[in-house]
Amino acid sequence: MTGVARYAAEYGLPGRVHAWPVPAGIARGRVAAVDASAALALPGVLAVLTPDDAPRLAVPEDATLAVLQGPQVPHRGWCVALAVADTLETARAAARAVRVTYTTEPHHAELDPAHPDAYEPQEANAGFPGRVEHGDPEAAFAAAEVRVDATYRVPPLHNHPMEPHASTAHWDGDRLTVYTSSQGGTTVREVLAQLFELPEDRVTVVTEHVGGGFGSKGTPRPDVVLAAMAARRTGRPVTLAYPRRYLPTTVGHRAPTVQRLRLGASADGRLTAVLHEATTHTSRVKEFVEQAAVPSRVMYATPALLSSHRVVPLDVPTPSWMRAPGEAPGMYALESAVDELAHALGMDPVELRVRNEPEREPDGGKPFSSRHLVECLREGARRFGWDGRDPRPGVRREGPLLIGTGVAAATYPAAAVPATATARALPDGTCVVRINATDIGTGARTVLAQIAADALGVPLDRVRTEIGHSDLPSAWLAGGSTGTASWGWAVHEACTELASRLAAHTGPLPADGIETHADTAGQADADSPYARHAFGAHFAEAAVDTVTGETRVRRLIGIFAAGRILNARTARSQFTGGMIMGLGMALTEHSTLDSAFGDFTEADLASYHVPAHADVPAVEADWIDEDDPHLNPMGSKGIGEIGIVGTAAAIGNAVHHATGIRFRELPLTPDRIL
Ligand code: MOS
Repeated sequence: MTGVARYAAEYGLPGRVHAWPVPAGIARGRVAAVDASAALALPGVLAVLTPDDAPRLAVPEDATLAVLQGPQVPHRGWCVALAVADTLETARAAARAVRVTYTTEPHHAELDPAHPDAYEPQEANAGFPGRVEHGDPEAAFAAAEVRVDATYRVPPLHNHPMEPHASTAHWDGDRLTVYTSSQGGTTVREVLAQLFELPEDRVTVVTEHVGGGFGSKGTPRPDVVLAAMAARRTGRPVTLAYPRRYLPTTVGHRAPTVQRLRLGASADGRLTAVLHEATTHTSRVKEFVEQAAVPSRVMYATPALLSSHRVVPLDVPTPSWMRAPGEAPGMYALESAVDELAHALGMDPVELRVRNEPEREPDGGKPFSSRHLVECLREGARRFGWDGRDPRPGVRREGPLLIGTGVAAATYPAAAVPATATARALPDGTCVVRINATDIGTGARTVLAQIAADALGVPLDRVRTEIGHSDLPSAWLAGGSTGTASWGWAVHEACTELASRLAAHTGPLPADGIETHADTAGQADADSPYARHAFGAHFAEAAVDTVTGETRVRRLIGIFAAGRILNARTARSQFTGGMIMGLGMALTEHSTLDSAFGDFTEADLASYHVPAHADVPAVEADWIDEDDPHLNPMGSKGIGEIGIVGTAAAIGNAVHHATGIRFRELPLTPDRIL
């Protein structure tokens, strides 16, 4: 550790000042007046931006970025003023001295599927059709020999990256530079150029180091817009680091879901009907539909399938991406229901999954580019010691503890997006790879250098990677588990071309070296005749304390089939990180949307419990060798999200096995267990 890495709030440019937001104190209504006189009277305060006088922006495509543009308050926590001062402490004091008066309007913040405004969206997040139906699911379910009909609930969840959303903005005439904590600087540049009506080449975005995002930094959030507005107003560089307590209302959250699962099967354990209906909420600001029912379109063979979504627009903060949107809550419900079905059938849950392996993708009918779910289940079962498990629930006791084991499957789409990159060979024998990728803590620099070194046939230490700056060739964000596939494809292309140019070159290299350029448009985004997904299997052992109601996970094993693993160390870190986040989803992470207040009651890390070291047992992640030629030149699938998918179901299934009681609402906190 050297402390050399600089994060967005740490760019102490000359004359830099600080901003602190003022969140709305009502659940819905309008700002009647902002009285900033007391704030402005504090020594060191430079400005208070209000909806009346803040710089006007072009209308953003993402309506959550229209900050301080009008008096409307769509939900509690919406930014209604911004204090700017010479120190962080003064900015905070000034924000607290701002007096806002409102006219309030009635609000509704309760997720009720019968709400009159509930509707079926055309599309869910990531462009999936809202509804998919094959065969006659209702009739097939009614006629099934064995049936499960259960409803599962997942609460709102928060991303809470260690580094909060932060930006430092600086104007030089009509040139804007921002240092921002984002998963993708290319999008930040596009959005800021549009909002401030500038050509893109007058906007520079630096995202050199990013302390996590988990989806909440996938696109720009209000911090970067507010920092740029404050810098324009004051003529000074401005840093805005969002206070953690304001993140839940400002940067998106995993929307709560109520999911009804109906599974019908023949007595020999063949699925005859799968019906997965998800209800979720969105805000009145913009539509975001957590695509929780989508994984049922991928997982199991069935002649009758319904996968559908309903969304209720409420006066709540806008939900957004959180690690494996759709799959994480959806596979909790589906994989819990599959476990319930195994129990109803008197069948081993591993064997039930194996029996329902599809030949082709159940929804699209495409063949899989590769699918090794069965191998993951078998290998996980072997390492876990699943064989010989007594299937009866509630029979394994250790004093006051009940012990159980559970299994669940995982899946996540494998995709790539076009990117551009350059590779330059220098006379000193080194090579520089340039691409506006972002390392959000995954080791992107390392793996891109590896891909380059492989393609060039040179040792790793000859390659230098430059990422995280909008002057670099533009590339897609670190999201959707597409980063390495997308960036790596462009890097591979540029370096393969460079290798052949070098092979053909005779004599010394010119002083500025030889450079190649790659653009994977038309390749990375080409339609595939294959259904492309990663798969995995989780095995969990849980101990439930019958006195305290506390559940502890003792062992967690995840085996994945995710194409070629490019770097074992960084891949294992991604898998286990996802699994630990899934453990949090199962046992501790939980946010309550208080319907009277219209806001989350757990807004900090003291009340929103992410797993601490003592909560995390030996987590083992490994993979089976998978060689998939239908993805990208590296043969890799994304690994950033699949680790969290299915983990909570495996733990919930272990808790059922331990106790004989089926809990269908997360998290499994002691108050629910007792
Ligand atoms: Mo991820 S939720 O696509 O950053």
